[in-house]
Amino acid sequence: MGPGTGVRTAVGTACGAGLRVGRGVVRTLAGIIIRAMNARTATTPTAGTHNDAAGDPLPDPAADALDPPAATVAVPPTPADVPSVPRAPATPERAAPGPDRQQFVDWLRAVAPYIHAFRGKTFVIAFGGELVKAGMLNALVNDVALLHAMGMQIVLVHGSRPQVEEQLALRQVESRFVDGLRITDNAALECAKEASGELRLDIEAAFSQGLPNTPMAGAQLSVVSGNFVTARPVGIVEGTDYQHTGLVRKIDGDSVRMSLQHGKIVLLSPLGFSPTGQAFNLSMEDVASATATALKADKLIFITEVPGVLDPVGKLMPEMSLRTAVERLQNNHLPPDVAYYLQHLVKALKGGVPRAHLIPFDMDGSVLLELFLHDGVGTMVSDTDLESLREATLDDVGAIVQLIAPLEQDGTLVPRGRHLIERDIANFSVIEHDGVLFGCAALYPYPREGMAEMACLTVSPEAQGTGDGERLLKRIERRARALGLERLFVLTTRTEHWFLKRGFVRASVDDLPEDKRKLYNWQRKSMVLMKKL
Ligand SMILES: CC(C)(COP(=O)(O)OP(=O)(O)OC[C@H]1O[C@@H](n2cnc3c(N)ncnc32)[C@H](O)[C@@H]1OP(=O)(O)O)[C@@H](O)C(=O)NCCC(=O)NCCS
Repeated sequence: MGPGTGVRTAVGTACGAGLRVGRGVVRTLAGIIIRAMNARTATTPTAGTHNDAAGDPLPDPAADALDPPAATVAVPPTPADVPSVPRAPATPERAAPGPDRQQFVDWLRAVAPYIHAFRGKTFVIAFGGELVKAGMLNALVNDVALLHAMGMQIVLVHGSRPQVEEQLALRQVESRFVDGLRITDNAALECAKEASGELRLDIEAAFSQGLPNTPMAGAQLSVVSGNFVTARPVGIVEGTDYQHTGLVRKIDGDSVRMSLQHGKIVLLSPLGFSPTGQAFNLSMEDVASATATALKADKLIFITEVPGVLDPVGKLMPEMSLRTAVERLQNNHLPPDVAYYLQHLVKALKGGVPRAHLIPFDMDGSVLLELFLHDGVGTMVSDTDLESLREATLDDVGAIVQLIAPLEQDGTLVPRGRHLIERDIANFSVIEHDGVLFGCAALYPYPREGMAEMACLTVSPEAQGTGDGERLLKRIERRARALGLERLFVLTTRTEHWFLKRGFVRASVDDLPEDKRKLYNWQRKSMVLMKKL
């Protein structure tokens, strides 16, 4: 962080206080991925390995299982007096998926919608020098490398406040702040340049790692830095000359974009240059929000020492509209550091960035948790309503197929196949959150009998219990009423009570429209529930 960061009062360490969904399971997943990687890379080309065409040792398929549960690797005990004999490979046991494997697969599939939604999107991720000082740089670099591998275009902006302070202390120069803004004299500018230069090298070095048993194996990332930021002096404000402290005047968005399009990660420091060739000490928040605005980035993410924005009773707010954020800033009840970050997020949103996040640096993997969990771990400020209930389009077919597949497999829903969903897509309503589809339901009208069927009602397990099911039902009811229909029915095997609680009553197969009655599956024995609209 640069000059604007004199205000730093601790807000407490209640990181992720508002976390409601599955952090433990995400951590488990991360552990499983890392263990899987380690298991694979730790396998040496001894007995049971074979080589690919390039000569690299490949682990034996039977030997690279993810810590299978004890039950699946049980081998009959060999009595001490009987010479041990080579064991037959335990192929059938290994083929059976253990709980870890299933969890791995389930969670990988659960994040797929986010990967689809975020691929090709531009994220500006800014982090303070505090993160580096706390030894969290490698973890962040691993996570950024993963996001990059998933197709996201990343601009990183680093801060340098504690590192500048260290340099000043080494030279026995006193830091000077007025209204929370550093006065950058010649000595402080030298310190800022040195701190940024060192940090840049450390970050570039971290991105150059590729040791086989780390998450960076095979990443081959190239990081680009440059004179992308034009600065101007803050000047003299109310009699204080801020000297080399500056503000962003312009970001060379075209050059940054070109680098991103060539697959580079762009790294920006909190320094900028004026057309006269002078360097200015900037704040990382200013550089980040100006960059996000110039690029029309999809997200701006601040990874900071505050956990997010807390509500008046001290609870973390996972989401916040732009209007609420502006009101909170105007009310002036926020701690100074939260207000400082929030004002830069608001600036970016007003500049056309649709989503901006404030997340803690001292939570391992916070950027992944924020992006891939429904509620995230910090605060997301958005310019629009995050949740939207709307009619489906052909673009939603893939997401619907993915959403209902597990329920088709376990028999909760009747399998219908992609082509049927494609054909009937106009019948579907969907609910999405931050661009990711979380629920769907379909309306099949039988106008002759004044009835309609609601089918395929599904809410993703991650989002269940928050009223999305009910919202979808109401939407379908409204659509049915708009068609002049008087009764809505469902066929269900496992969700009877949910519908009974929402005004449905038991009915019989004879009450169904004739065409539906003919198709009734007597083996499935679904219950018929009916509601008067
Ligand atoms: C049924 C379903 C759509 C409800 O979605 P949802 O977003 O969780 O629903 P809501 O948030 O509006 O309602 C949650 C309430 O329903 C209850 N509920 C969820 N599934 C239920 C079920 N199978 N039977 C009875 N109640 C159920 C929850 O316990 C919760 O109760 P509470 O409010 O008293 O705590 C969702 O659980 C789902 O997708 N289930 C699997 C698919 C399915 O069964 N679809 C119906 C096919 S006919």
